[in-house]
Amino acid sequence: MNNTTNSIRYLTFALGKGRLASKTLELFEKIGITCEEMKDKDSRKLIFVNEDLKLKFFLAKGSDVPTYVEYGAADIGVVGSDTIMEENRKVYEVLDLGFGKCRMCVCGPASARVLLQHHEMIRVASKYPKIAKDYFYNQKHQTVDIIKLNGSVELGPIVDLSDVIVDIVETGSTLRENGLEVLEEICPLSARMIVNQVSLKMEADRIKKLLEALKEVV
Ligand code: PRP
Repeated sequence: MNNTTNSIRYLTFALGKGRLASKTLELFEKIGITCEEMKDKDSRKLIFVNEDLKLKFFLAKGSDVPTYVEYGAADIGVVGSDTIMEENRKVYEVLDLGFGKCRMCVCGPASARVLLQHHEMIRVASKYPKIAKDYFYNQKHQTVDIIKLNGSVELGPIVDLSDVIVDIVETGSTLRENGLEVLEEICPLSARMIVNQVSLKMEADRIKKLLEALKEVV
């Protein structure tokens, strides 16, 4: 294989759809990586190419990003650390991008605080059953019944589906507006860059350069 530009293979990025992808593209622009096609909000296209830099970008559901990266369908992914923990895929986490900052917390009505202090069997609703299970079983040593939900998790304690929830808290306004509060903090969260394990070796130079440039601007 010769070393001309044409022989360089595409480096493929999987970005979590929505705010995360927009923030990532803003960051990439700062280091001279642009993808004009992606800025068209009305487009239904799923994959975008920067021919000059030999880069491809696709937008995926956040929870699928680690899967694309583990299997090598994407060399690099950008996704929240909540998703990385929950999906537990074989990928390298290489950089904290410093945006999308929030916290994973146990939340509920103030009256539920006591339930967390006596190792009682309680019901925990969450979009993140693995994180919830790991926290209660391995850190708090409290046996709990975990109920998986797919969104609007704050409803759990309100309609008495659960005693507490494990969920993301950003501004805290969803909790406040629903009479709930943070009872315990599990961990801070932010957007992270992940890399396929083989890509990190095969494309070491390009990825290293990208990381160095990003480190300058995050
Ligand atoms: C997330 C999270 C909380 C809310 C926290 O929900 O699950 O419900 O945001 O943000 P806040 O502290 O700023 O109010 P998201 O908007 O992703 O919707 P969903 O989980 O209900 O699908």
